[in-house]
Amino acid sequence: MPSESTARVLKATAATAALTALAGAGALGYAAGYEVRAFTLRHALVPVLPVGARPLRVLHLSDLHLVPSQRRKREWVAALADLEPDLVVSTGDNLAAQDAVPAVLETYAGLLERPGVFVLGSNDYWAPQPRNWARYLKGPSRVPEPEVPRLPTGELVRGFIDAGWVDLDNVRTRLTVAGLDLELVGVDDPHLRYDRYPDVAGPAAADADLTIGVTHAPYRRTLDAMTADGAGMLIAGHTHGGQLCVPGVGALVTNCDLPRAQASGLSRWHAAGHDAWLHVSAGLGTSPYAPVRFACRPEATLLELVPVR
Ligand SMILES: [Fe+2]
Repeated sequence: MPSESTARVLKATAATAALTALAGAGALGYAAGYEVRAFTLRHALVPVLPVGARPLRVLHLSDLHLVPSQRRKREWVAALADLEPDLVVSTGDNLAAQDAVPAVLETYAGLLERPGVFVLGSNDYWAPQPRNWARYLKGPSRVPEPEVPRLPTGELVRGFIDAGWVDLDNVRTRLTVAGLDLELVGVDDPHLRYDRYPDVAGPAAADADLTIGVTHAPYRRTLDAMTADGAGMLIAGHTHGGQLCVPGVGALVTNCDLPRAQASGLSRWHAAGHDAWLHVSAGLGTSPYAPVRFACRPEATLLELVPVR
């Protein structure tokens, strides 16, 4: 029979365990039942255009991870067309089901009428797989094994291109948008090692108003190379902003080698004596096998590019 003091310790331990379990269940309920659908439009002002240029409104979308039955997400995203952005930049991971392409194109219908560019992410190529959450804190997720089912990537790309969006996967191109001469350079997903930046590398065009680099996963090798070439603005997704964040601390992981402090939002990137603005989107969705977000709401961002001060 335990002594009185031992019994008190056991009782206190049991109470702590029960409270922790209750708090955990409450947080999980909030993360899965509310926050994962608490869609938020963020705004960011980026002083990156030449003096005297008119502002450019860029809508950054990422990581939609759409399953056709996600009605609320589809309605919220479709309504973003009312913003009438000058340019839409989609940084990949659109799909979360084999039959999601028609739903993605329908959801983006209004946005596809605007000028747009896109790159692909791993979840545009490979079907989502159950994830071992014990690995969550250990490092980037693994590249899919060959037996993982492919997604209808070609159907998605055709839909975007047929609507007029420009495929930036390992592409450098020029685009006139709202009177600005933009140079755009993008890579296919560095997380899958599909990036071929050397094929499109080169100094930023001196006669362009701005060079924008676009990638799904913001790996340092990609950000460094684009910045060193003189891109003034870098746009990426993939991190989900950490997805499960700690209030007051922020993201615990970025699912790549990006520093945690830059897991989402606007920051600066430095390489080879050059500086660029970096915007990383926390994204709009999650894998269907991890439908939770905590202290990291699903988001789209309206970037207002303005002249340097
Ligand atoms: Fe994603």
